[in-house]
Amino acid sequence: MEHSRLMWPFTSGLIILIVSATYCDGLDNDSSLKPNFVLMMVDDLGIGDIGCYGNDTIRTPNIDKLALDGVKLTQHIAAAPLCTPSRAAFMTGRYALRSGLGATGRVQVILFLGGSAGLPPSETTFAKLLQREGYTTGIVGKWHLGLNCESRNDHCHHPNNHGFDYFYGLPFTLFNDCKSGEGSEVLVDIQLRLRDLTVLLGLALLTLVCVCAAGLLDVSGKALVLLALLWLLAFGVWYVPFRLHTWNCILMRNQDVVEQPMNLETLSERLIGEAEQFVERNQHKPFMLFLSLAHVHTPLFISKDFAGKSKNGLYGDNVEEVDWMIGRMVNVIDRLDLSDRTLMYFTSDHGGFIEDSDARGQKGGWNGIYRGGKAMGGWEGGIRVPGIFRWPGRLPAGKVIDEPTSLMDVYPTLVNLAGAELPKDRTFDGHDLMPLIEGRTERSEHEFMFHYCGIYLNAARWHPPGSDAIFKVHFFTPNFSPPGAGGCYEIGICMCHPEFVTYHDPPLVFNLAADPSESTPLSAETEPRYAEVLQRMGRAVEEHRRTLRPVPNQLTWEKVLWRPWLQPCCGTFPFCSCSEASGTAGPAA
Ligand SMILES: *[C@@H]1O[C@H](CO)[C@@H](O)[C@H](O)[C@H]1NC(C)=O
Ligand SMILES: *[C@@H]1O[C@H](CO)[C@@H](O)[C@H](O)[C@H]1NC(C)=O
Repeated sequence: MEHSRLMWPFTSGLIILIVSATYCDGLDNDSSLKPNFVLMMVDDLGIGDIGCYGNDTIRTPNIDKLALDGVKLTQHIAAAPLCTPSRAAFMTGRYALRSGLGATGRVQVILFLGGSAGLPPSETTFAKLLQREGYTTGIVGKWHLGLNCESRNDHCHHPNNHGFDYFYGLPFTLFNDCKSGEGSEVLVDIQLRLRDLTVLLGLALLTLVCVCAAGLLDVSGKALVLLALLWLLAFGVWYVPFRLHTWNCILMRNQDVVEQPMNLETLSERLIGEAEQFVERNQHKPFMLFLSLAHVHTPLFISKDFAGKSKNGLYGDNVEEVDWMIGRMVNVIDRLDLSDRTLMYFTSDHGGFIEDSDARGQKGGWNGIYRGGKAMGGWEGGIRVPGIFRWPGRLPAGKVIDEPTSLMDVYPTLVNLAGAELPKDRTFDGHDLMPLIEGRTERSEHEFMFHYCGIYLNAARWHPPGSDAIFKVHFFTPNFSPPGAGGCYEIGICMCHPEFVTYHDPPLVFNLAADPSESTPLSAETEPRYAEVLQRMGRAVEEHRRTLRPVPNQLTWEKVLWRPWLQPCCGTFPFCSCSEASGTAGPAA
């Protein structure tokens, strides 16, 4: 008796110990402790278009609120000034040329869904790592990182094969060609040349036929047939790939084409509705949602509710609609009581497209005080974008951070928060942002940052330890046209291969901390550290170059150009056509 009375407290204590130990062990990898992630990326949005970044006419109350409740980054840098490479770097945490998406020539983005360029299967996206940690992962909206490799349905570059359980949206992007009545946007000069060639061949054929019929000349039937075939070929090459409205502008749900061509009128509502439903479906387990908006890329489609409402024309209407969508995203997180375990992030893939305008006015974005814009890898306006993180209870509210940060930082930040590890077999270019945005450290880990335009190193930045200076050197700058303009207005968009740029040796040097608009290059006379800057940058570039490995180039003409057997299609090829009936059955993930 005595014995068992003594034993009881002991055994019960032991039981409690064991039970709690097991319980805590369980919690160690209990998915309910892992934070959710909602990443919101706007397409082509300029940093100067947002209220909390200084715009006083466009109304963006929801984005401004996100910054008030969280951390606003003022020196948040895209790894490339165009969609495809910037998104590749974002998804992989590595400069785009590491995955073969650094272009050598004029084609710097994927131009046809029926091509074979894309994010190679050898790359591991952050989505894939999160998936392995038990996350449900989804992308709603634009992908623009390729689709097929060898056949119409292999989907080797598809989001489902890059770590996303669920995909609803545009495997390609929004292009002018997606809206009837807008001019074409893809290789327009080549289209025109092919059209002229077709007309010429047609005329030659007609003339020959007439001349023969009149008995003036005796041309063999074979020659006529040959010419006719040539004409057919020219017609096909000119006409078929450029029927972009049907070919490129499609919507997919996972592996299926659900709408072709897509209906822009209802697109905003469908995208935000899908995003909300994804969160609702997955609210009880850890999830990552990448809401990749089709806005504010031209042709600037707009829902009726926002048309004509802003003070900045169609473009301003579009930004205000974006703000409304961001508000809905925040609302669903708050309504489901997920705010204190959800990290929300807002950004743009690169700067606003300053050259884009027509008779009705400006169509591209506004990059505030920064020089240049979209397609310029060196000038700040092409790469400095909004960056806001919100996580009530974990991140300070209303904090502003001026340190250099990169969109590539999202990768390691998410991977660390999810308790996963970075793959050890490759170089990463981002750094975990949590120490900086939580306020545990004052300095960014980016002492150096490299700014690419295609495969070419356009500029580099140095934030010297113990100093507030942000030195930036430009190895080349795009040739603006007309000379003296602030962009490449004559060709419509800047290029970065040799014929279109001016090389600088020594490079142009600026201190962004004192001259954020990059207006006056420094010299040995005006900057005491001038020689040191050049020397330090030179060494850093050398060290960086040593980390690069040769990889197959994804953006060759051969891979980029349209091929019928790669073209996604609903219905019977080539008569692809379908539309998403309202109230389609719900998705799986
Ligand atoms: C606000 O954005 C619009 C549209 O991009 C632009 O035209 C305007 O100059 C911006 N205003 C400010 C104060 O930055
Ligand atoms: C945590 O759980 C997930 C999902 O069950 C599993 O895939 C992962 O390997 C686990 N991680 C660790 C570190 O045990």
